Amino acid sequence: MKTNYLVLGGKGKTGRKVARKLTELNQNVRVGSRSETPSFDWENPETWSNALEGMDRVYITFQPDLAVPGALEAIEGFMKVAQQKGIKKVVLLSGKGEREAELCEQVVINSGVDHTIVRASWFNQNFSESFFLDPILAGHVALPQAEAKVPYVDTDDISDVVVEALMNDKHNGEIYELTGPRFLTFAQVVNEIAEATGREIAFTPISLPAYTKMMEDFGVPSDYVWLINYLFSEVLGNKANEIITHDIEKVLGRKPKDFSAYVKETAATGVWNQGVEV
Ligand SMILES: NC(=O)c1ccc[n+]([C@@H]2O[C@H](COP(=O)([O-])OP(=O)(O)OC[C@H]3O[C@@H](n4cnc5c(N)ncnc54)[C@H](OP(=O)(O)O)[C@@H]3O)[C@@H](O)[C@H]2O)c1
Repeated sequence: MKTNYLVLGGKGKTGRKVARKLTELNQNVRVGSRSETPSFDWENPETWSNALEGMDRVYITFQPDLAVPGALEAIEGFMKVAQQKGIKKVVLLSGKGEREAELCEQVVINSGVDHTIVRASWFNQNFSESFFLDPILAGHVALPQAEAKVPYVDTDDISDVVVEALMNDKHNGEIYELTGPRFLTFAQVVNEIAEATGREIAFTPISLPAYTKMMEDFGVPSDYVWLINYLFSEVLGNKANEIITHDIEKVLGRKPKDFSAYVKETAATGVWNQGVEV
């Protein structure tokens, strides 16, 4: 018999791939989105019950981040409804090295619903589908924490782990920490993308206060500025996060995707050359 999966953020960076892979595995998938019927909106708890109706298992991606104020209350409320609806299993996407996110993990762990926690390092796709794309397109990336070494992980690998964890109960109760196979600094990232696209892209190290001011000058909303500040200071500013894990290999029995493979594939899509004369 087919299982019914609700994939929250089902049009987003990881959820899109999770939804596609589950469908390819002949499972029933409901995409959790503000623009689907029934709709799902983290900011409107009245939508949660309908979205969960008839579902067996749920992939939870929270917006914008489990570390933001209000996330804990939202996860508590959501897990209560999930339990009432008889959800059998949830997989929570969390952020590696985010203490606030770990409080949300505890809510899931103590909910009485079977679960797997997937704590991911920063995604490769932040440079092609998220906040670092615009500076790459502008040809000038200015970021703080220039010396930080980040073990970027690919959403292909995250989604494979999530699908395996959703479908296979041997992963119940596990916390997996996902990283890519090597560390990169921002300068190295920019260099790889510049080489693969044949474009000139400069990297300039700046201080966190200067970066904050730059975001404010560009009119970035204050809660987003808070989140970026948090991520740069708590996650990248913490040497304890400079760790490479082997959980992708443990779960999937294969090596994680290297950053260079991501860069090669992504460069071939043309996303880094849109509107740019090479
Ligand atoms: N990026 C990273 O490096 C990183 C690393 C570790 C952990 N994470 C965690 O990953 C999670 C995000 O997962 P993701 O990157 O796969 O997703 P994503 O790409 O950020 O998801 C974007 C989707 O979220 C939906 N969305 C936006 N606001 C919403 C709301 N109020 N209610 C419901 N849906 C909403 C939008 O879908 P619709 O428009 O269709 O509603 C959009 O397609 C975050 O919790 C973040 O902390 C990210």
